[in-house]
Amino acid sequence: MSQTRIAVLVGSLRKDSYNRRLAQALEKLAPEGLEFQYLDISQLPLYNQDDDAQQADAVLQFKADISAAQGLLFVTPEYNRSIPGVLKNAIDHASRPYGKNVWSGKPAGVLGASIGAIGTALAQQHLRNILAYLDAPTLGQPEVFLKVDDAFFKDDGSIASEGSQKFLQGWMDAYAAWVKKHAA
Ligand code: FNR
Repeated sequence: MSQTRIAVLVGSLRKDSYNRRLAQALEKLAPEGLEFQYLDISQLPLYNQDDDAQQADAVLQFKADISAAQGLLFVTPEYNRSIPGVLKNAIDHASRPYGKNVWSGKPAGVLGASIGAIGTALAQQHLRNILAYLDAPTLGQPEVFLKVDDAFFKDDGSIASEGSQKFLQGWMDAYAAWVKKHAA
């Protein structure tokens, strides 16, 4: 059976990132046939339009990985009511040079976790705006806004609460079906 590749973009570089742990927990809920590739956005230089004609090797590899994926999974914290700069930097790189936007047409899942009460709602809304402009369709429902702490995850990385686990399973099922529909 052919594999459907999902490029995973985590908006935090923090070693113990809740969002990375959430991405890894979601991966465990995925159906057979989806494979997840975590893209390293920490190695990308700061975007500079002067470099468009000669993008760095790390940027070219990043763009190739996105092009090779059938779906995108964004799992991001909220920084000051928007997405972290490192994630925006990565998005800008892969949108350029003009006319060579590799995000176009890639179905994207958007979710996030924060220690704050609104669970990344504003960051996700900003991200949806950016992806709409870049022609990457985003799964509308269900939405996932998670307020987390260390107790959210079990030691093995899975979700501690049965209710949250069930809810995220529902999200993953909807996402997987939606990516397959786009890939068809
Ligand atoms: C935050 N945090 C935060 N939380 C939130 O709910 N809304 C916000 O606007 C912000 N703003 C913000 C700015 C900056 C610079 C930092 C470092 C943090 C807190 C954030 O939710 C918390 O640090 C999470 O743990 C970040 O996610 P990771 O790194 O655990 O994935």
